[in-house]
Amino acid sequence: MSIDRNVSLAPAAGRLGILMPGMGAVASTFIAGVELIRKGLGEPIGSLTQLGTIRLGKRTENRTPKISELVPLAKLDDLVFGGWDIFEDNVYEAAVRARVLDAPLLEQVREPLSTIKPMSAVFDQNYVRRISGPNTKKGRNKRELADALRSDIRDFRQKHGCARLVMIWCGSTEVFGKPAPVHETLASFEKGLFENDPSISPSQIYAYASLQERVPFANGAPNLTTDVPALLELAKANEVAICGKDFKTGQTFMKTLIAPGFKARMLGVKGWFSTNILGNRDGEVLEDPGSFKTKEETKLSVLEQILQPELYPELYKDLYHAVRINYYPPRGDAKEGWDNIDITGWLGYPMQVKINFLCRDSILAAPLVLDLVLFMDLAQRAGMKGIQEWLSFYFKGPMTASGLYPEHDIFIQLMKLKNTLRWMRGEELITHLGLEYYD
Ligand SMILES: NC(=O)c1ccc[n+]([C@@H]2O[C@H](COP(=O)([O-])OP(=O)(O)OC[C@H]3O[C@@H](n4cnc5c(N)ncnc54)[C@H](O)[C@@H]3O)[C@@H](O)[C@H]2O)c1
Repeated sequence: MSIDRNVSLAPAAGRLGILMPGMGAVASTFIAGVELIRKGLGEPIGSLTQLGTIRLGKRTENRTPKISELVPLAKLDDLVFGGWDIFEDNVYEAAVRARVLDAPLLEQVREPLSTIKPMSAVFDQNYVRRISGPNTKKGRNKRELADALRSDIRDFRQKHGCARLVMIWCGSTEVFGKPAPVHETLASFEKGLFENDPSISPSQIYAYASLQERVPFANGAPNLTTDVPALLELAKANEVAICGKDFKTGQTFMKTLIAPGFKARMLGVKGWFSTNILGNRDGEVLEDPGSFKTKEETKLSVLEQILQPELYPELYKDLYHAVRINYYPPRGDAKEGWDNIDITGWLGYPMQVKINFLCRDSILAAPLVLDLVLFMDLAQRAGMKGIQEWLSFYFKGPMTASGLYPEHDIFIQLMKLKNTLRWMRGEELITHLGLEYYD
């Protein structure tokens, strides 16, 4: 039984341009995947927007459409891709270099991928220390760089006849940074752009350009980026959707599956030691302690927030949690993660759980990129502005309103996401109470 729609949704008509600062392993695997799926040469496994269903109304109504039937999402055929990178490789070359997809498979989409060439990047070696490349912009100050990105965005929109755009950061992880005075207000940020304030990172210049062009912005890395008052102010003022941070794949994805289970059963956790080896460029960048610190923050915060030691001191107060990432070139994108978890049961008896996840980083990340761009475009068409907390499902470090702790439990995140879609369409929210079935 449907009630009045809560928001009026503009249709998903016309082309949707996807702009990616950073066209490395994740971006190229995502683009190649969409091209292959369009040709019927692959399945969009891992993507909620393509495969997920949503229950509507009572369980007795048997209404379970696909998510894409409930809300109007852009079609894969309507997506066009572009972006920026410090390297000049086109997306085909970037995909070959990333070694995620097999050569014969990539060969079948060589032509469309070869035509996508990265625009010159806004880059600062102080923020990503382990790499450098030739394809960068020059400007007298950061304001000029922001203006150059804004004209790239406008040119792309025009050249490809895009009705709408979404930007998603798929660039390297920048060094750890805390909000500085320049991030306090939009006015101080804009002054800082003119004055080349060193606390303004390249990802913030992209985000600023995106928000000024009223293009929704999602952050796939753990960088501070839009998590500062100045850019939140701009997102609100220009009525643009933002979300982040750090795609939830691999080991942290596993953590957010398992930790809520221990807590649900009131099992204690004394220690959680996580270690990884990976050999892609991301791994190389994360060898730098500055970039690793940024990653470590989002990875570590998850357990504390799920287990809530302040509410359950007898179970979690002494939890020792460590995360290590080691760069190990032979593995390429095929990451291996080990978790040793020391748990306690009845009367404090110790037990251990070991997880050995042999995953493929970009294979896990690509469907998240697809879902995020489609949902961010939806949010924008629904008139939703500022932080999109309902997309926490996709992130290790979900952005929230200030003073609000983030929700990390993936099943609560999924419920929130689906309830937001129901709410958009005026469908009843599902609480799982279900007493009416037993009247
Ligand atoms: N499962 C995953 O793969 C996963 C999960 C969570 C987060 N991430 C994050 O996503 C990002 C991309 O991962 P990846 O494996 O594709 O890494 P990658 O190293 O293959 O690609 C990143 C690209 O960004 C480019 N770059 C760096 N700074 C730039 C700038 N200022 N402007 C434009 N381009 C810039 C680099 O040249 C590189 O080509 C990383 O920050 C990573 O930590 C990935």
